[in-house]
Amino acid sequence: MKSLIPVSLLLLSTSQAFAEQNKAAPKDRELWITLGTEAVAPMRESFKSAGWEEPTAVLAKDQVSVFRVKESQLSRLATLMHERFNRCAGFITHETQDEAVASLQPAPALAPQSLVTYTLDNATTVNALMGSVLETNVRGTITSLSGYSTRYYTSQGGVDAANWLLAKWKSYVPASRTDVTVELFRHASWAQPSVILTIRGTTLPNEVVVVGGHLDSINSSGGNAPGADDDASGVASFTEVIRVAMSRNYRPQRTVKFMAYAAEEVGLRGSKEIAAYHKSNAINVVGVLQLDMTNYKGSSSVDVVVITDYSNSAQNTFLRNLITTYVKIPQGNSSCGYGCSDHASWYNQGYAASIPFEAPLGSDNPYIHTASDTLSRSGGTATHALKYSKITAAYVAELAKGTAQ
Ligand code: BES
Ligand code: ZN
Repeated sequence: MKSLIPVSLLLLSTSQAFAEQNKAAPKDRELWITLGTEAVAPMRESFKSAGWEEPTAVLAKDQVSVFRVKESQLSRLATLMHERFNRCAGFITHETQDEAVASLQPAPALAPQSLVTYTLDNATTVNALMGSVLETNVRGTITSLSGYSTRYYTSQGGVDAANWLLAKWKSYVPASRTDVTVELFRHASWAQPSVILTIRGTTLPNEVVVVGGHLDSINSSGGNAPGADDDASGVASFTEVIRVAMSRNYRPQRTVKFMAYAAEEVGLRGSKEIAAYHKSNAINVVGVLQLDMTNYKGSSSVDVVVITDYSNSAQNTFLRNLITTYVKIPQGNSSCGYGCSDHASWYNQGYAASIPFEAPLGSDNPYIHTASDTLSRSGGTATHALKYSKITAAYVAELAKGTAQ
């Protein structure tokens, strides 16, 4: 998947991006990153050509290296990764050197209490939720979110979009639902908060089912970042499930948390803090579903692929069974080759995460991270994303169980 763009050429197109996005960076802290060793030489070149000091190498182990960088250098690095490696390489940021080095260990085994049995025995609730999702609503959310010129994690648009979503989710919750909360999860290091809606479980409130997608967007060339597919679509797909869950008085047995994560595009940073928070508070998250890019039908033969890396194979089997039994759309498998979205943050903390994705890798939306990531690139409809609302409805109703009207 490596692209053959010469380094000299990609540096031309990245310098502008850096200038734009760097304006928005409020402070310039030191951070540590882990990245694939094959990306080290291009990174050094890129830093050199920006007139920056060499990034400081901390450790190289197997195929991964740890470096100390400045926060303001992240967006140039993100651009480089995308252009040089055609997205098939990422980096992950860490607050401390210890944390960066520790992340090189394999993900811990699942805690025994996290194990659940996957059963398909709640069809009435699945059909109540699945049967009420509407394309117009999914489209409306994509249109609104992609209407912000950018939702970049340090930008005003990024903050405004979070507050808009907070208000939208609140508007779905009847006053009588004292079991439901909608709140911001603030992040100390940047402006954009994450947004979380929680429905407390009736009989198993300490077992938590998470559904998430990322709220932020990025343009690797520094212009507008509508992020209609990446990832207004994923947020819109599950926002419609929230609407239906409230309108049909859904009462899950397990607690369900819907999350719109900040700062995914700059190293999964929002979800990383949230997953770490759940781990350090010993919260028993029994399953995580990530929706990132749901509205581009890039394949005529499959409508969804299950990503097989940085994900839980038992839960992936459950997800495939839900799709076959309830959603009845053709499916396949793909892998990213790296922790390509927020599911990896949960995976890295030892939780069971899965990500159903819009198309086989390589046939996915080619316009992401550009000003052309608009709804019009998906034919102006949310038909494809609606399938993911149905997948989410089935996942929630069969993992959190419970009733709806
Ligand atoms: N939605 C993308 C991930 C993606 C893109 C998955 C194309 C499959 C196909 C996500 O928003 C993203 O851009 N992730 C980063 C990784 C992250 C660690 C910065 C990426 O892919 O470079
Ligand atoms: Zn992205």
